Amino acid sequence: MDTDTLRAEVAKLGWWHRIDLGNGVVTPGADDSPRKLARLGLPADLSGKSVLDIGAWDGFFSFEAERRGATRVLAVDASWTGPDGGPTKYGFNLAHRALNSRVESRHLSVYDLDPAEVGRFDVVLFLGVLYHVCDPLGALERVRSVTSGVAIIETETDMLWKRRPAIGFYPGSELNGDPSNWFAPNIPALLGMVKVAGFTLGTIHSRSSIVHQAGRAWRHWRKHGTPLLHTMQRGRAVVHAT
Ligand SMILES: C[S@@+](CC[C@H](N)C(=O)[O-])C[C@H]1O[C@@H](n2cnc3c(N)ncnc32)[C@H](O)[C@@H]1O
Repeated sequence: MDTDTLRAEVAKLGWWHRIDLGNGVVTPGADDSPRKLARLGLPADLSGKSVLDIGAWDGFFSFEAERRGATRVLAVDASWTGPDGGPTKYGFNLAHRALNSRVESRHLSVYDLDPAEVGRFDVVLFLGVLYHVCDPLGALERVRSVTSGVAIIETETDMLWKRRPAIGFYPGSELNGDPSNWFAPNIPALLGMVKVAGFTLGTIHSRSSIVHQAGRAWRHWRKHGTPLLHTMQRGRAVVHAT
């Protein structure tokens, strides 16, 4: 596909990720994907490794794993409508074509991951999905079942001022106005959940700073009127679980 055609195709779609498709074409995602990537601790060299990206959406992290040399990358998402592409897989499919990618993809929920069916992976990416599932422990147990090396888990966090394990619960759209958000743990709860799910070790690789939390709280107050005392206790964290 020539660059002008690609640019036109990209412009027709809504995007979550910012994917560099080459020749100056970058998909205009709402998510600052390169910034998120920098917080993950994803090995720079994935040569010979297998990678599973759960909740891959447009596939930024799957394509990045392939770019870093992974031999097998499987991208799965529960909201894709099928192998031929529903509305939410158009971006992934276009990027896949433009990058001439060999990333495999399947329309699959985290709950349905079965090592006998998909295999086990050296690196499992579970990014921005934990707070979208209504059974986070069950989901983490499935993540563990397909991890042979490390699972990199990135999530929203809440209740950060509490020292004991605590989890924010959002029966409506209290978290960022999105009714698909259910639970966000604080750091002790997150590490506890990883253990209960059967991982031997969970370590915090990165978490948002108090300055970041304050800036975010301010933006949420201005946009949604959310009380600052609530949002100041929220952030993001990345756990490496083995
Ligand atoms: C906030 S986006 C995160 C996308 C990407 N992982 C990232 O970090 O930028 C959440 C993604 O998880 C997917 N998702 C939600 N529930 C899921 C489930 N039960 N199993 C697999 N994917 C799920 C959504 O369809 C969506 O693509």
